[in-house]
Amino acid sequence: MSTIKVTPINHLEAVFEVPGDKSISHRAAIMAGLANGSSQIDNYLPSEDCLCTLNAMASLGVRYEVLGELDGYGPTSLVIHGQKMQLSAPDGDVDCGNSGTGMRLLAGMLAAQPFESTLTGDASLCSRPMGRIIKPLEKMGASIQAVGEPAGCAPLRLGNTSAESKLTPISYEMPVASAQVKSAILLAGLFTEGETTVIQPNETRDHTERIFDHFNIQSQSENNIISVTGGQVPEAKDLHIPGDISSAAFWITAAAVMPGAHLTIKKVGLNPTRTAILDVLIRMGADIKIENLSDAQGEPCGDITVVGSSLHGTEILREEVPNLIDEIPVLAVAGALASGRMIIRNAKELRVKESDRVSTVVGNLKAMGAEVEEFDDGMEITGGAELHAAELESFGDHRIAMAFIIAGLFAHKEGETVMHDTDCINTSYPGFADHLAAIIEGKAI
Ligand code: S3P
Repeated sequence: MSTIKVTPINHLEAVFEVPGDKSISHRAAIMAGLANGSSQIDNYLPSEDCLCTLNAMASLGVRYEVLGELDGYGPTSLVIHGQKMQLSAPDGDVDCGNSGTGMRLLAGMLAAQPFESTLTGDASLCSRPMGRIIKPLEKMGASIQAVGEPAGCAPLRLGNTSAESKLTPISYEMPVASAQVKSAILLAGLFTEGETTVIQPNETRDHTERIFDHFNIQSQSENNIISVTGGQVPEAKDLHIPGDISSAAFWITAAAVMPGAHLTIKKVGLNPTRTAILDVLIRMGADIKIENLSDAQGEPCGDITVVGSSLHGTEILREEVPNLIDEIPVLAVAGALASGRMIIRNAKELRVKESDRVSTVVGNLKAMGAEVEEFDDGMEITGGAELHAAELESFGDHRIAMAFIIAGLFAHKEGETVMHDTDCINTSYPGFADHLAAIIEGKAI
């Protein structure tokens, strides 16, 4: 297991790009694989999570050719040959690794197939709740068994819908605001005869709706009600994926809280269902500018420039939570480094991510000397206590590892912060350690 060690820095000046968006990469592999021809996908994220989804599609009969790679990781540019909605049974279990998005989206698609399949993953994924997708998919007539421990968890045995008995379209009111659940239902809906509707309690990331549109699948979305009619075949089309704002968030936050810092991250995805991290940092007093905004392929993209300053705490609003759920670990670090109080509530979903992120964030903040109170649905951080270096666990959670490596860059007491078990970073941000080293050394990326 690797570790990363950091000491504090006082200077951050850099211009670079982060790897492709994880959410869009999963969806690109699935939709291009279902399309009626070949699509070239550029800036695909070669992280373990997205490679699992690509391998899953390959195990279902989708061929692809690699045009470009990130050395040591995997494809960044590839041509995917779509199967025109006709998948074939996999030889063995389909491994989703650590990826909740991969497993839930693939489950929606596989639940509708006329063959059996089993989705599995690592220990963390096999402990995350799958009832949230099983319930609506069963309502559509799917056969799904969660055969893991604890009850309701993966591995998932799915499918065997015979050609004559397709899934039935449903209208489903989601109890939790989850883009993964919404997308699983909409993907299953593509294989039905009729209109499938999902009603969400709050807005969630809309990459599925946007990628449907890109591949010419008609869907309707208004007032948090999204519908798609089955029987449509995605039309193959090339796609360039923007940089992942959730990866950019680590550097944006580091620069925002460091007076004198100057950072530009180019070609980052700026989908409004993902940019609440910027709104919250700006509310905390951050100096953030967007330039070169474009919307070439259905997903807004632009350059983000941050000039460092001193921040103050804020309260994250209930409706903002789904929009910045993945950025809460690093925002909590910003809260500890800011003055005043940072309040994070209505975020119980954090407890069922790659780790229980309420408890892992609170534990690591306390280990560094921050003042923080834990709630069932979040935390309150009283900023301003000087952070000290510490020996920390990632709990196998990529965002915990990266958020607290950033915290280590600000731990001005007691030397070196050691983050254990950092291999998990490759699930979302291949090349993070190289970017970190260049930033610390002040070298160009
Ligand atoms: C994702 C949705 C979010 C997010 C995850 C990616 C997606 O999960 O936390 O990292 O790509 O749909 P939920 O939809 O379960 O909140």
